[in-house]
Amino acid sequence: MSSLTNKRIVLGVTGSIAAYKSADLVRRLREAGAEVRVIMTAGGREFITPLTLQAVSGQPVHSDLLDVDAEAGMGHITLAKWADLVLIAPASADCLARLVQGRGDDLLGAVCLASNAPLAVAPAMNQAMWADAATQGNVKSLRGRGVHIFGPGEGEQACGDIGAGRMLEPAELVNESMALFVTGSLAGLRVLITAGPTREPIDPMRYISNRSSGRMGYAMAEACVEAGARVTLVSGPVCLPSPERLTRIDIETAAEMLAAVESRLAECDIFISAAAVADYRPAQTAVQKLKKSEASFSLELVRTGDVLARVAAREVAPFTVGFAAETENLSDNARGKLQAKALDMIAANIIGKDGDGAPLGVESEDNALSVFWQGGGQELPKAHKSQLARQLVALIGQRYHEK
Ligand code: CTP
Repeated sequence: MSSLTNKRIVLGVTGSIAAYKSADLVRRLREAGAEVRVIMTAGGREFITPLTLQAVSGQPVHSDLLDVDAEAGMGHITLAKWADLVLIAPASADCLARLVQGRGDDLLGAVCLASNAPLAVAPAMNQAMWADAATQGNVKSLRGRGVHIFGPGEGEQACGDIGAGRMLEPAELVNESMALFVTGSLAGLRVLITAGPTREPIDPMRYISNRSSGRMGYAMAEACVEAGARVTLVSGPVCLPSPERLTRIDIETAAEMLAAVESRLAECDIFISAAAVADYRPAQTAVQKLKKSEASFSLELVRTGDVLARVAAREVAPFTVGFAAETENLSDNARGKLQAKALDMIAANIIGKDGDGAPLGVESEDNALSVFWQGGGQELPKAHKSQLARQLVALIGQRYHEK
């Protein structure tokens, strides 16, 4: 499977004769597994029709910034957030100049400004326009801002000139785009992830649970999707929107989580156990709501099944990754769990406050992790959980392929 699997690409088509190749580019990007939405500038529409690009992308083509209907559908901010990559091919000399200025007076410019996704441009223009100091200055400036410049190629041009300025061929642009996504790739792998807390019922009204928000597990699920994996997320009750492009299974209790995981293990290469599973459940669940009577009340608790340990103990086990939340002796406790549960990797974090008194771990947006495996380890310093998840997924990808 290619590293463009699951990727969402906004393709900008600007005014250059090479726009006739954009239809082939869309087709090849889709063949490589990407979803493509096309934005055409007014110049682009002079060279190729929106109908052609609509037919090959299977989606309406976007072109107007101030169109009420278009904005009510997938508006410029939605498109900007949707994209994993904004690729402009062909990118005319004028397009490069506009990007340098940060112009937002057309749809493509506005999407480039509003998107956090990587931006790549495939310049296409006459060799003299490419060689001009203004264009070279613009390219230098864009590179300095982290914009990926694909090409241009050299050779005979539509106008008869020979030199640099040709747009790279669609197949080359697909390869360049793939190369942007290869780090820590889980392309083609099937990942099963647990996330969130479990609830162990006492009676129809009450339960035992914990403070897990599910954020780390959900961030892991999103990072795995981003890395090209096919993801199944088994989730306890959380207040988080469902990530896209994965299968989500909702459960409440540890027993339901175990059953959901075991029924899907046959189709799983990597198991990531990010859920805060209750270690104990009430021995009995009352059918009717319990009434208060005595001054004190005790509840008998029994152990739940350890989902992670059971998965790791299977004869044919997937690559298993556990989490450990500790209040002390982080490294010793985490390494102990790595051995005791026979895991391939464990990611441990301190729950409590960081050096500045800000909350870390449960209920917080940030976390820091110490990752251990047999004979090695790595610190992942404090970062937003989504960022941290990407780093951890990269490590999982590396270790999985080494194993
Ligand atoms: N885990 C699990 N099923 C359980 C309990 C834990 O899958 N019934 C998984 C968690 O998802 C996590 C790891 O095991 O990946 C945590 O290990 P564990 O030893 O259970 O941690 P704690 O519950 O924090 O253990 P202790 O209280 O003994 O420190």
